[in-house]
Amino acid sequence: MELKDQAIIVTGGASGIGREACFALARMGADIVVADFNAEGAAKVAEEVQALGVAAHSFQVDVSVAQEVEALVDFTVERLGTLNGLFNNAGIGLVKPFLEMDPASYLKVIEVDQHSVYYGMYYGAKKMVELGTKGTFVNTASIYGSVASRGNFNYNAAKAAVIAMTRSGALELAEHGIRVVGIAPGYIDTPILGTDKGVKDQLAAQHMHKELIAPEKVASVAAYLFTDAAQAINGSTVPVDDGFLA
Ligand code: NAI
Repeated sequence: MELKDQAIIVTGGASGIGREACFALARMGADIVVADFNAEGAAKVAEEVQALGVAAHSFQVDVSVAQEVEALVDFTVERLGTLNGLFNNAGIGLVKPFLEMDPASYLKVIEVDQHSVYYGMYYGAKKMVELGTKGTFVNTASIYGSVASRGNFNYNAAKAAVIAMTRSGALELAEHGIRVVGIAPGYIDTPILGTDKGVKDQLAAQHMHKELIAPEKVASVAAYLFTDAAQAINGSTVPVDDGFLA
């Protein structure tokens, strides 16, 4: 129970990687706030997490709105008494050829996938310093923060920024006992990939094992990064991509 009594927020906790991370963290003893735009989905996951014997609450949030992320941090401290970690994981894709990547489509993904990570780290770290607690941020980037992907100009930009903010945040927050690390998933079998089997097979073929990665496999790495065993990992973004970037 390496994370016993640790209070950890998971954004995007209603689905996919975030949902599995809520379970993985709870099995290690952490208390969880399941934060998501999808209030009903988050409440359901919180109920399932409680059944594992830890405290869990849900909170509806739009992570692209600064004040809502600040309210999420305050809610967590109010309900769980402290804040030890935040999995900045909520994200979207909005695929368009570059010549159709109008400002609204560009900004939507930058706001949800990039600004949200800044808001989480900013309000989360301020609260940790105020409380005098140590803490960990785990930020979900992507393989597409490191290499280009057709139709994903907005997503490429946002995820590259997440990798950079992970480095930069780690550098400045270390003196406060706070670690910041990232994960860069490959193709994970979640609703974000859509339902077209042909497309999914093509994506899977790019992994060394020619299979999509189960969200549980990403969640277990994310959960490990919150533990003291991972204390020497700082500022880096860990690929969880079955060799895609290798
Ligand atoms: P998912 O679609 O299963 O889960 C994303 C969750 O984020 C959903 O529950 C959704 O309601 C929530 N969300 C979306 N916009 C939000 C907002 N503005 N505020 C609050 N919640 C919001 O997708 P998945 O795959 O679990 O994605 C999680 C993260 O992993 C994302 O950051 C994604 O970019 C990243 N990722 C996913 C990959 C994949 O192949 N599935 C690959 C690389 C990265």
